[in-house]
Amino acid sequence: MKKMRVAVLISGRGSNMEALIEACRDKEYPAGIVLVISSRPGAKGLEYAKRAGIRTEVVNHTEFESRDAFEEAIHTILKETKVELVCLAGFMRVLNPSFVNRWRDRILNIHPSLLPAFKGLHTHERVLDAGVRFTGCTVHIVRPEMDDGPIIIQAVVPITPKDTPGALAAKVLEFEHKIYPEALSMMAQGRARVSGNLVYVKGKKIKAKGLINPPF
Ligand code: GRF
Repeated sequence: MKKMRVAVLISGRGSNMEALIEACRDKEYPAGIVLVISSRPGAKGLEYAKRAGIRTEVVNHTEFESRDAFEEAIHTILKETKVELVCLAGFMRVLNPSFVNRWRDRILNIHPSLLPAFKGLHTHERVLDAGVRFTGCTVHIVRPEMDDGPIIIQAVVPITPKDTPGALAAKVLEFEHKIYPEALSMMAQGRARVSGNLVYVKGKKIKAKGLINPPF
């Protein structure tokens, strides 16, 4: 089977990258991670990717004089490696519209909230401050606005009175690791297709639904 060639862009821990790498080990899985790029030299995820035998590159944003130059360097490596789809996984740089449009419908991102609510950083603190009863995570197609774009999969996580930002982050992360590989698989197989602002899913039911009703 010809697997879709995928790059993962990280800046830190890389646990979502790990989940994607692990999913790709299955020979039936329709995508393969051929490249990991980190915007930070010390990113923990780089070690894991190297051990998995994946090409790793550091494109350190502090070494470029403009965001355009930084993105051009990333674009060149992606092209060189014949990458077909890009997964952002804890990648802490905002991408210019020119980059996003060059890769239109071919960049995915994961965000730890039920988008379009709670875009941006410190998500779990803001979720708790807002007193919402449910949170979750979203895999979406990247558009030029931050944390914006057609939604591929979401998982819902109920909030309990005991939740702290850290506890919530850990609960949500477990679901992130389920929905990201599922979303990538749907895209690579062509089961999910983007049309305008929406993603249409055909065929098999989504496995990682993650909708849990609260016990009260
Ligand atoms: C995840 O919570 C992801 O949703 C967000 O940043 C975090 C990255 O974690 N965009 P990791 O680097 O994948 O472990």
